Amino acid sequence: MNALPATPAAPARGALSFTHRFVPATDPAAAPLLLLHGTGGDENDLIPLGRMLSPGAALLSPRGRISEGGMPRFFRRLAEGVFDEEDVVRRAHELADFIGEARTAYGLAAPVAVGFSNGANIAAAMLMLRPDVLSGAALLRAMVPLANPPAGSLPGTPVLMLSGAADPIVPASNAARLAAQLNERGARVEHRVLPGGHGLTPTDMTAMRDWLARTGAAAA
Ligand code: MLT
Repeated sequence: MNALPATPAAPARGALSFTHRFVPATDPAAAPLLLLHGTGGDENDLIPLGRMLSPGAALLSPRGRISEGGMPRFFRRLAEGVFDEEDVVRRAHELADFIGEARTAYGLAAPVAVGFSNGANIAAAMLMLRPDVLSGAALLRAMVPLANPPAGSLPGTPVLMLSGAADPIVPASNAARLAAQLNERGARVEHRVLPGGHGLTPTDMTAMRDWLARTGAAAA
């Protein structure tokens, strides 16, 4: 198995610990969204998605601090789908600390994460390791980030998992295991398997908007 090269990304710019974009709210009733990009993305990628999902919500969009051959990520991996779990733990805590900093700096409520692929996986790790940081999470094409996460409690935390029926990166059994881990911790998990692969489709958008409206995850 090939180990993929991973080196720390350039140090964060600005006063907060992650390079990021912040879009202030125009609707104070809308919960802030934490946008977490996939491998090779950056802090700009999911801003349009966030605007579409919850117009008027504050958007907080950090860039992953790992660089894999120049591609930003949120934690190291040893190969596709094989994670460096020690690094997952370290990076999940770093990101959780950044969210605390950003909440203070920008006066935000606990955000709802919207994570795609690697961004969904770090959001899942944060739910396991720092259950108080997120008020909910939409995990798009997520897989298990920690084989044996510590016991934790996520009582009633709304979590939407959207998996692709023909996803070549995330086996169905792996996504189901993540849903089970979250359910065991008390999260209110809705796991849907949509037609399609690892990429997002308009069906994902509809499902996320519907979930935000139904669960009240978008209401602060
Ligand atoms: C990961 O590395 O987090 C997953 O394999 C998804 C990806 O980013 O390709």
